[in-house]
Amino acid sequence: MNDFMFGTFLEVPDRLIAALEHFETLAYLLAALLFILALAQLSRQKTALQGNRLGVIGMTLALAAVIIVAVLQDTTAMGLTIVLMVLALVIGGAYGIWKANRVQMTEMPQLVAMLHSFVGAAAVLVGFNSFLIQPGVEQYSGLTRMTENAFHMGEIGLAVFIGAVTLTGSIVAFLKLSGKISGKPLTLPGRNAINLVMLIVIIVCIVWFTMTVGRRAGIVPLAIITVVSLVLGWHLVMAIGGGDMPVVVSMLNSYSGWAAAMAGFTLGNDLLIITGSLVGSSGAYLSYIMCKGMNRSFISVILGGFGEGAPTAAAESKDYGEHSEINAVEATRMLLDSKSVVITPGYGMAVAQAQYPVASLTKMLIDRGIDVKFGIHPVAGRMPGHMNVLLAEARVPYDSVYEMDEINDDFGDVDTVLVIGANDTVNPAAETEPNSPIAGMPVLRVWEAENVIVFKRSMGNAGYSGVQNPLFYNDNTVMLLGDAKQSVSDIIAELNRTAGA
Ligand code: TAP
Repeated sequence: MNDFMFGTFLEVPDRLIAALEHFETLAYLLAALLFILALAQLSRQKTALQGNRLGVIGMTLALAAVIIVAVLQDTTAMGLTIVLMVLALVIGGAYGIWKANRVQMTEMPQLVAMLHSFVGAAAVLVGFNSFLIQPGVEQYSGLTRMTENAFHMGEIGLAVFIGAVTLTGSIVAFLKLSGKISGKPLTLPGRNAINLVMLIVIIVCIVWFTMTVGRRAGIVPLAIITVVSLVLGWHLVMAIGGGDMPVVVSMLNSYSGWAAAMAGFTLGNDLLIITGSLVGSSGAYLSYIMCKGMNRSFISVILGGFGEGAPTAAAESKDYGEHSEINAVEATRMLLDSKSVVITPGYGMAVAQAQYPVASLTKMLIDRGIDVKFGIHPVAGRMPGHMNVLLAEARVPYDSVYEMDEINDDFGDVDTVLVIGANDTVNPAAETEPNSPIAGMPVLRVWEAENVIVFKRSMGNAGYSGVQNPLFYNDNTVMLLGDAKQSVSDIIAELNRTAGA
């Protein structure tokens, strides 16, 4: 038993080791290919499921290869390696299955943020482990050794830096997205200077760290890098306002990819480098696309709201006048009087789980000869593609679903717009109020339609960014207050009643 756990379990012949290395390279190559194919297929709704499957197969292959190689190559404590691997798989797998089964669709962004924090923590731990196993060495014995040592230490420093920023940044994103702390940006005086100073301290400490010899000397700069990076990650995301959170999630996704790639360098694992780079670059590209969609400066967002002022109090508490309310019967009449209807869903539709009655309502209106389309804002809901997923789940035909840019010029010709649980994404203040925190963000111009019916529960609550919405007080806007699922079901009941009458 002792031998099995801590000593030699079986002698692995050299030829088997060589074969293992080939198997490892081949498995990694295949897994990397599968990941690339998965990403390509995930970009289209029709092929997304297949893409997901390819990703799962790639990850299973990668995990199997890592485990087999780690177990067979470890000739000193094979039993212990097996026990640790099984333990990690069982704990991680059980937690993953439990969490995935419990999570609501609306809670996905915070789950993703939490998972990113795990990647950050792993990169920090791998960095520390790598340093403890192989700290810096004397550097006077030739250029090659000197360069190798500096690279090794530099990789550790970078892995710990990016990992620590990702760790605390993701925890703050998780807390903000789950409403455990306020989504309002923390705007400390001189926050950009504070970030810059922290960045300079980290860079100086990484250079210092690459020149240290031994554990005792190296642990000082490494500890400073860790602490300052943890504070930097926390501060960067605290400074970002609610409206920019979608970009933050995809940006942290990108950071977690780079953290994994850095961990891949320190571990000498090619697949981790490839996978980390794929995640890092696709996350960065997604952040860039989302910034373009929200008319935000990419640099400003990734630097924690660099160059942006705090929202003005005046913009937050303006008196827009009176609003008008209607009931489901009146809403039904307005719909029956319309030739064209556009539905713009938002986060509230997801919360109310109203997509199924919305799909039924769509079918009933189409059956009555009314043209029905959906207008989807790129950041409607709480994660990229949130609305598209819900509508596909309720079997709304793809060809009636339009992206914001495809439909925004057509609202002038629309008779009635149903704003179902959307707020920020249809807020005209983005175009008319330069001081608004969402100023410049492209929005669905629903107010250009003849009539707008807004479904929400009360007049008191603002949208995710906490900004008031003047749309609700326009002459051509009426409010249908109540839970969206109930309101849509009431309209369906009224349509059935009028059809039967
Ligand atoms: P929001 O601006 O969050 O507005 C949601 C609306 O739904 C509110 O008017 C709310 O009013 C209403 N609502 C909530 N529960 C409801 C229910 N059960 N029945 C009826 N109405 C309900 O939504 P949006 O327009 O989709 O905008 C998305 C916002 O989230 C943007 O600010 C965006 O930046 C941010 N965000 C997006 C993402 C991604 S990637 N999509 C990720 C994180 C954050 P009541 O409370 O009065 O009902």
